[in-house]
Amino acid sequence: MTSFMVTSQTDDAVKVLNVKHWTDRLFSFSVERPASFRFRSGEFVMLGLLDETGKPLLRAYSIASPSWDEKIEFYSIKVPDGPLTSRLQHLQSDEYIIMKKKPVGTLVLDALIPGKRIYLVATGTGIAPFSSLVRDPEIYEQFEQVMLIHTCRDNAELAYGKELVRISNSDPLIAEMAHQKLVYLPTTTREKSDVMGRATDLMRSGELFTKLSCTSFSPEEDRVMICGSMAMNSDMKSICEEYGLIEGANSHPGHYVLEKAFVG
Ligand code: A2P
Repeated sequence: MTSFMVTSQTDDAVKVLNVKHWTDRLFSFSVERPASFRFRSGEFVMLGLLDETGKPLLRAYSIASPSWDEKIEFYSIKVPDGPLTSRLQHLQSDEYIIMKKKPVGTLVLDALIPGKRIYLVATGTGIAPFSSLVRDPEIYEQFEQVMLIHTCRDNAELAYGKELVRISNSDPLIAEMAHQKLVYLPTTTREKSDVMGRATDLMRSGELFTKLSCTSFSPEEDRVMICGSMAMNSDMKSICEEYGLIEGANSHPGHYVLEKAFVG
């Protein structure tokens, strides 16, 4: 049975503006921003298509563009037999998808107690919410240093993050602050690059803190946001707690927050 098409008449339909394939596993796309749609940088929304019975097939997707931007961007993995991404990867501009206009999530600055440094630690497509946050002036107003740490399998999978850092350093709105405060540390695990190994292993060995010229996490000064697979989130959670950091949420800000990257 073929699936139903989302049209401009479908509830919560938004028009696709642009699709970019980064590797055979990764792509990003942007959609028109509905006039009344507001969100905080770092939040996610439910996004998707219609299934073969005409029902919405939705998954949580972090918004990868900052809250001030005119368009809304998403960054996604392509799962060959994933019910949604196997279809979503074939999106073309001017087609429609469903986007629920109820942004939520814990990777927001409001969920953290003020601090000196913020570490944004991602694997794979987990960089999406941080792509939103590092392009928003607010993070530079609140922190003296913003450490973006991204672990991927190979160099090709780092391309989205590298482009993000290039844009941040050249966007007149934040370029000056980004030059002063944004520190980017990409690492790979399955291909040679300047820094090899999982961010978690590099933290445990101390190599990561040496490279960043920082001491290890302290509850007084450091804040951490985590977004990746279930396994990486749980390893990072243990590391944060070993250093005495306490998990935060919108209702009770803390030293660190985490969210699972979209996977299916
Ligand atoms: P590895 O190559 O050692 O599995 P994926 O593409 O599978 O989502 O993985 C993205 C990156 O996350 C890979 O570099 C992978 O390393 C790394 N990774 C997987 N599990 C963990 C974990 N528990 N902690 C930190 N990094 C991890």
